[in-house]
Amino acid sequence: MAKDAKKRIEQLRCEIRRHDRLYYVASQPEISDQEYDRLFAELGSLEKANPQLVTPDSPTQRVSGQPLEGFATSRHAVPMLSMDNTYNPDELRAFDERVRKQLAGDNYGYVVELKIDGLAISLRYEDGALVTAATRGDGEVGDDVTSNVRTIKVIPLAILDGPKVPRILEVRGEVYMPTSAFTELNKLREEAGEPIFANPRNAAAGSLKLLDARITAERNLAFFAYATGELSEPLANNHYESLERLKKFGLPVNPHITRAQDIEMVIDICLKWSEKRPDLDYHIDGMVVKIDRLDQREMLGATGRAPRWCISYKFPAERAETLVESIDVQIGKSGILTPVANLTPVQLSGTTVKRASLHNFEEIDRLDVREGDTVLIEKAGEIIPQVVEVKAHARPARNVPFEIPTKCPNCGSDVAKDPDGVYIRCTNPDCLGRLVERIKYFAGRDQMDIEHLGSALIEQLVETGLVKSFADIYRLEKSQVAELQRMAEKSADNVIQAIQMSKTRSLWRLIAALGIRHIGGQSAQILAEHFGSLDAIKKATHEALEAVDQIGPTMAASVYEYFQNPKNLAVIDELVEAGVKPEMPKKVRRSGKLAGKTIVVTGTLENFSRQQVQQAIRDAGGKPSSSVSKRTDFVLAGNEPGSKIDKARKLGVDVISEEQFLQMLKG
Ligand code: IVH
Repeated sequence: MAKDAKKRIEQLRCEIRRHDRLYYVASQPEISDQEYDRLFAELGSLEKANPQLVTPDSPTQRVSGQPLEGFATSRHAVPMLSMDNTYNPDELRAFDERVRKQLAGDNYGYVVELKIDGLAISLRYEDGALVTAATRGDGEVGDDVTSNVRTIKVIPLAILDGPKVPRILEVRGEVYMPTSAFTELNKLREEAGEPIFANPRNAAAGSLKLLDARITAERNLAFFAYATGELSEPLANNHYESLERLKKFGLPVNPHITRAQDIEMVIDICLKWSEKRPDLDYHIDGMVVKIDRLDQREMLGATGRAPRWCISYKFPAERAETLVESIDVQIGKSGILTPVANLTPVQLSGTTVKRASLHNFEEIDRLDVREGDTVLIEKAGEIIPQVVEVKAHARPARNVPFEIPTKCPNCGSDVAKDPDGVYIRCTNPDCLGRLVERIKYFAGRDQMDIEHLGSALIEQLVETGLVKSFADIYRLEKSQVAELQRMAEKSADNVIQAIQMSKTRSLWRLIAALGIRHIGGQSAQILAEHFGSLDAIKKATHEALEAVDQIGPTMAASVYEYFQNPKNLAVIDELVEAGVKPEMPKKVRRSGKLAGKTIVVTGTLENFSRQQVQQAIRDAGGKPSSSVSKRTDFVLAGNEPGSKIDKARKLGVDVISEEQFLQMLKG
């Protein structure tokens, strides 16, 4: 029976992998979704009945159960370089000239690809099985994001073409979020009162850096392969055919890849895609132009951080024309007033734009933007759309210059100009608009991370007077929340639960949430680690703060000033009274049995799961890493270790057994 089960399991896995490939890579499914689900369910139940037959490359094993504590680092066998940019056809021609000179009369051709706007990762397959996936990091060392990458359905966990697959195959490419998935995700987040992602790239990066792969699995990430890293044998002698081979292995390769004989043809292709890019369901920020022949690439080599055989052609930022329907003045958490243009909704780089920041009143003056004006907006690669130009000649005579407010639009108090003259602030420290912003920030994802406490609810809580301070959040009762508009019983429950959960957030989150000027998440973490408790930070002298590594004089002064103010001390006392009890930072073990040691684990261990062993290494002051290099102190080898052992032996790195490792921990 078990033998039959084994055979059927293998059959089903093969079948499912084949259908995955047909669906994701070839876009030519042969069976319906229901039929696919049936195969998947059959495999699942057979594996459930025969747990000893479950292997990590089974299609059922994409999502691991436990969140990670942190990412291990992974050293790239071949560095991941960056690319030089060009911005117009002439710069492309100049690139071609340099290539021509260096290749001294040899014929050469190009491959032109879309430049996918996501994040680069390296996938390492050993004997056809995906073993590591790492982000680019600094090009030499990245984060090991294997458990998250495994959830990306277009990435095969195992490669089919058995014997022809090189034993070591590193595939490089871009993880991205399709525009449709991005729009859907942001819609859900907005409804849930969670902060939305600014663009698909941030959403993809954020999703890949989650510690809980179960959430990554829900994010609909995708991937295109565009290069290789370490290979135990070459795939082809030119790039185009290498990509063809990758496609045959079942890896997704972008369909819009063209060979071009000369630079004029390259330019034509680039200009064509500059027009056509809105038709795609993913963002591209340019084109990538690569020399096709690998021997010629070798001849061209690299300069510093970028190869000489490839160049990117960056598209000009997309612009769109629309109407400024009105200009609002918004208040920020530190009381700064910011003008914002409300626009007639318009499509730009795959998202609908309804608002654009005008930054400050000097900017309004400089541009002379008025309500009712027709403007050009631009998304300069990044985040918030900007107004770049006003079509002044088309302006109706009734459009009058925008008047700089003299009163806070929220509380009506006087405003004052900052000494540097750029920002205008509300002078009322108790301004409710400002309080709303401070509470939003406090509850935000990068601070106390109170789920379900979204903007609309915070506004209501402040307006009704239920929340007048941070501590009031923790005094809320379910019945009070449920009475608010549009709050169902269940939602009120969720909010209260999320608030309760946030009471024990890490100390650094609380420090960040207070909104101390110049102190963001990073510096809050440094302060939390250095001082270890809120009390210690409160009592820190100016000198003690300045002495902290990476805390500059401006930050030190700002923290000191904050904790000198009795009002602020009262805010904190109140929070503590209301039950906020931040988790103290775990001491970074500089002593520990494995202090300062970098350890790579390979194979399966008897006493630990992968996560447990990484935690054990960290707890003992060591650093888990996923790739062996000269800097590795030792390799811990369990059952069926992979090629990491060979690499360790080659580099003369010590290999230890689980037994020895346990001894070391006891030591
Ligand atoms: S090839 C030596 N091909 O662009 C560089 N990169 O700005 C080899 N990218 O880090 C990379 N699409 O993340 C290559 N078709 C493509 C690409 C591509 C997007 C990204 C990649 C790289 C960045 C450089």
